[in-house]
Amino acid sequence: MNNKSIKNICCIGAGYVGGPSMAVIALNCPDIIVNVVDINLQKIDAWNSDDLSRLPVFEPGLDKVVEKCRGKNLFFSTEVERNIRKADIIFISVNTPTKEIGLGKGYASDLKWIESSARQIAKFSRNHTIVVEKSTLPVRTAETIRDILESSEEISDFGTEREQKSFSIISNPEFLAEGSAINDLQNPDRVLIGGEEEESIDRICSIYKNWVDSDKIITTNLWSSELSKLVANAFLAQRISSINSISALCELTGANIKEVSLAIGKDKRIGDQFLKPGPGFGGSCFKKDILNLVYLCQYYGLHDVADYWEQIVKINSWQQERISSIVIKNLFGTLSNKKLAILGFSFKANTNDTRESPSIAISKNLLKEGSELNFYDPKVNKNQILKEFQGNEYEKKIKVSETAFDAAKGTDAVIVLTEWEQFNNLDWELIFQVMRKPAWVFDSRNYLDKNHLSKVGFKVWTLGQSS
Ligand code: NAD
Ligand code: UGA
Repeated sequence: MNNKSIKNICCIGAGYVGGPSMAVIALNCPDIIVNVVDINLQKIDAWNSDDLSRLPVFEPGLDKVVEKCRGKNLFFSTEVERNIRKADIIFISVNTPTKEIGLGKGYASDLKWIESSARQIAKFSRNHTIVVEKSTLPVRTAETIRDILESSEEISDFGTEREQKSFSIISNPEFLAEGSAINDLQNPDRVLIGGEEEESIDRICSIYKNWVDSDKIITTNLWSSELSKLVANAFLAQRISSINSISALCELTGANIKEVSLAIGKDKRIGDQFLKPGPGFGGSCFKKDILNLVYLCQYYGLHDVADYWEQIVKINSWQQERISSIVIKNLFGTLSNKKLAILGFSFKANTNDTRESPSIAISKNLLKEGSELNFYDPKVNKNQILKEFQGNEYEKKIKVSETAFDAAKGTDAVIVLTEWEQFNNLDWELIFQVMRKPAWVFDSRNYLDKNHLSKVGFKVWTLGQSS
């Protein structure tokens, strides 16, 4: 089976996954029309903006791909119904956050956006449609989607035509990381495709085979594919909590977490990736996916297994509390009448995404202690930062600056929470001159030049090193 028979793809959800992943499909499959649809008009307008710096997702290289394909075989619109009708294959890339109310609150995934997408597909699709789960989902969600699709009217009536509808469901989770999405999509470690019918699996494989080697395309049953995505994220997050837990032990013993990380990572069985210590993992997925795994384990009666995985999230929160306390203790135990500069608001470098950013939790802890905060992030805009504190008692204690230098002016400490490369190249001498003394730098990512900062005159705390 080749992809000649695939003419039209629709993707529901134009977010961090839907936008970049479909842009890369469009780039590599010029014969396929790719329509990305979303209910959020503002987001679609931004995807269609002439000014490519205004795309709703900042990803290195994304603007070039969009420039090349948009208007040719890549389209962004709010016309959900019309594009579902035209599609041979529908990817569902909608959000699946943690439930905030009701059964499973705080743990289970909220599948209301998945359900509404499935209902729209059931209503508006025609003939045979392959429905692809691109969102990250609890294992066995395909069963729910199938129930919704199969409860749709068997026969649909479009004008004078009467057609038989049928569906097959495929799980094709996305493994891209933000900040490197285009590279991850162009050169994936693997593409995972789970399904029940060989023909549908082959059709999805045929799309990826346009640019991905066949030996990187793994096919499994539906449930293995759905579960593997959750487990991959849980294993990645587990490494971060492991190294962060050891960062605390390093600070007390004279070991240096960077050296420990290097030493253990050289063992091929451990590997050197994902061993960077920091203020805890952020991002929209790790926490929600582990909590979802915890919920599933509880649901299936595996309580000890649930406790094991929940500990990864607990250590993550503990690391954020720990860093906040270290700042407070070093600033003489109180932040009243003190101003602090927070450098970095995105959850990692090279993205404008702030969801679950460690900066949010740590800033709130510092505000609770009475400090004022000046923020600077190279890619997160002012409103996005202010929104995070809107409506709470600390709103008036927040300022967002245009440069790191402005943010640092008149402060007692600079707290670096995102590892933007530019923070390494700041004119720290100049910054030192405009700060109140003793002037502190807290490096929560262990990546600044501590010797240089100390020489300039700063008091420096580096995560995972004894002072
Ligand atoms: P997102 O919030 O950025 O985008 C989801 C989009 O879906 C939103 O724009 C929303 O308006 C739209 N939407 C919701 N319901 C809709 C409907 N019925 N019709 C049309 N549009 C609808 O989310 P995201 O970060 O792209 O994540 C999507 C999924 O992919 C999640 O399950 C997530 O866990 C998973 N995932 C995310 C990443 C990542 O790096 N962000 C990576 C891998 C997997
Ligand atoms: C993560 C996974 O890496 C992707 O494979 C997955 O597709 C995605 O989640 C998802 O399902 O959403 P992402 O969250 O975009 O991608 O970014 P990561 O690079 O994994 O970083 C996550 C968090 O961990 C960041 O806050 C980062 O600073 C932190 N991190 C990462 C560390 O503290 N140390 C590390 O060594 C690596």
